[in-house]
Amino acid sequence: MTLTALDVLRQRLPQARPRIAIVLGSGWGDVAQRVQDATRISYRDLPGFPLPSVQGHASDLIHGRIGAHEVVVLTGRKHTYETGDADGMKLPLRTLRDWGCEVLVQTNAAGSLQANMPPGSLMALSDHINFSQRSPLIGESGSERFVSMVNAYDAGLREQALAVAAARGDTLHTGVYVWFVGPQFETPAEIRMFSRIGADAVGMSTVPETIIARHAGMRVLALSLLTNMAAGMSTEVLSHAHTLSQAAAASERAAGLLCDVVAQLQL
Ligand code: HPA
Repeated sequence: MTLTALDVLRQRLPQARPRIAIVLGSGWGDVAQRVQDATRISYRDLPGFPLPSVQGHASDLIHGRIGAHEVVVLTGRKHTYETGDADGMKLPLRTLRDWGCEVLVQTNAAGSLQANMPPGSLMALSDHINFSQRSPLIGESGSERFVSMVNAYDAGLREQALAVAAARGDTLHTGVYVWFVGPQFETPAEIRMFSRIGADAVGMSTVPETIIARHAGMRVLALSLLTNMAAGMSTEVLSHAHTLSQAAAASERAAGLLCDVVAQLQL
């Protein structure tokens, strides 16, 4: 008999009942160190889990606790720009849903389109623009595939995150995230267009996972760490190394906020 990823998780962690799944993007890796009673399982041991190929992105599943909540953390995600396929996180997220996760907390690094969100700012996604027009649900059957994307980012979870940030004396912005497949960064003309169509931040991830999660019936909270002003908005030269260095500078604050939010989350 071939084991599924869910079989492996149930065998290794028979008592586990996590209700919150967390996906870590660039700059959010410190969260992994803050998981208590942690058990780490490599994606290699979970059939169908992807092996991310991007520097700065790990590939372990961590089960444990943040505050009173039992959580499962995915330390890396598959990006559409790696293969052209938008459905690389479908099997992991459905596995976590089947394991009992009702909430997906996503994190990412993004470029800012707002002067009042300089590098180092944090933003909760209020909505997204799927500019790529790709869907991880292509090929699905059944009427459930026509999933509503209204309230894709759960208003109740976002309000809780904003309240926790305020209590910490930290500023958490809210805004619209536009998905650009990449892996090349945007042109200044593309960024001007994104500003006009209502985007506040731009990045290369998160949107496919939100679509998968909504289709799977999970509620989503997503937080961006703004690592740079978007192309053409400042003189800095964009590169992956720049993203990682800016992300490292803000990582403690980002992880602290996320862990406080998760610890206090009312499901
Ligand atoms: N564009 C796209 N993705 C990003 C950026 C950006 O400016 N910064 C971090 N991830």
